[in-house]
Amino acid sequence: MAQPDLSARKILLIVGGGIAAYKALELIRLIRKAGGEVRVVLTTGGAEFVTPLSLAALSGHPVRQALFAPDEETTMGHIELSRWADLVVVAPATAGLIAKAANGMADDLASTTLLATDKRVLMAPAMNVRMWTHPAVQANVERLSGFEGFHGVRWVGPDDGEMACGEYGPGRMAEPAAILQAIGDLLAGEAARPLAGRRAVVTAGPTFEPIDPVRGLTNRSSGKQGYAIASALAALGAEVTLVSGPTALPAPVGVTRVDVETAAQMKAAVHAALPADIAVMSAAVADWRVDGVASGKIKKAPGGPPTLALIENPDILAGVSAPGSHRPALVIGFAAETADLEANARAKLSRKGCDWIVGNDVSDDVFGAEGNQVILFTREGQAEPWPRQSKTEVARQLADRVARHFETR
Ligand code: CTP
Repeated sequence: MAQPDLSARKILLIVGGGIAAYKALELIRLIRKAGGEVRVVLTTGGAEFVTPLSLAALSGHPVRQALFAPDEETTMGHIELSRWADLVVVAPATAGLIAKAANGMADDLASTTLLATDKRVLMAPAMNVRMWTHPAVQANVERLSGFEGFHGVRWVGPDDGEMACGEYGPGRMAEPAAILQAIGDLLAGEAARPLAGRRAVVTAGPTFEPIDPVRGLTNRSSGKQGYAIASALAALGAEVTLVSGPTALPAPVGVTRVDVETAAQMKAAVHAALPADIAVMSAAVADWRVDGVASGKIKKAPGGPPTLALIENPDILAGVSAPGSHRPALVIGFAAETADLEANARAKLSRKGCDWIVGNDVSDDVFGAEGNQVILFTREGQAEPWPRQSKTEVARQLADRVARHFETR
């Protein structure tokens, strides 16, 4: 089998307390030989089987053991350590560590790191056969596997075989070479899905603001661009909520769609989908709604047509962009303009406080059309004109640009 290439990949290895802990030494050697970097967290139990000194010597970094060790926390805090990694590997994963992770317990550095990480976790269980086959352990394994998105734990092993305790059966930790292979496979899979573990909320389509039970104010947005963006983000692994005004489009595969009509409903649905890492507000939200929606159908009257009083709708994009704990790391707005695209788009970007704005010239009817020509304006002052391309291609380019943004952060 081909050796995986782990160049520049960062692995956080948690070594639990089991006789198989000695195999962690060989695993570190293999990861480094494949080009990867390893930092080690050693549990109290693990330290009974393997010394911090040998782990430090092989990994080339000090080994972390305590949750509240002032000298260790100042070099790299435990939260930072959990985010530093591209992948967290637990080898050996004991019944105790698995139980803690499955139940959200955080009472030492290893279990806290497992809760705090925003990366995929790979576990290599190692325990006595009776323990491994115990329904409590199996229930914990099932629970961990079933968590959504990157929270879903992946497994390598255990193998069948004779155990240190003399019994025979499943429970022996997978060999370091097999764990290395699983690490390579997982990272390769994640690379094709660079937004795996990221949450996104996308708005699309028009809003419909009722006048009475049968009439309303709306606009000509088809929703195509927003639907294509939701689909492109999901294809890169993001967990996407698409908040959609009334459109004739089917929900893209792998996307959670929330249907709304009015701007107020759209705003509520967007905020309910937070926290998210990415917000793309592509809906054509009606700027105004009717003040005092009639409860019955407004009838023609001799006095002439009714006068509609309008009130301003909330600005959803500005609300999502506002500083606060739930502000997504990347907020993207759209600016559909019929004149002075650059000046208007830039003014909109700063007025609404978003990070990027996708500007497009709608003077020659983009609504419902397949093609789209856009310029991406960033908060840093860049302007990237993209070629005229289909809305699907614009969406793909935007999703790739988003993935690149998170990679280089
Ligand atoms: N937007 C929003 N909520 C609103 C109005 C607009 O979230 N009530 C978002 C749109 O989804 C889009 C961006 O703001 O991402 C710009 O929308 P646009 O209609 O071009 O801007 P307006 O705020 O209407 O500004 P103007 O009237 O100056 O064109």
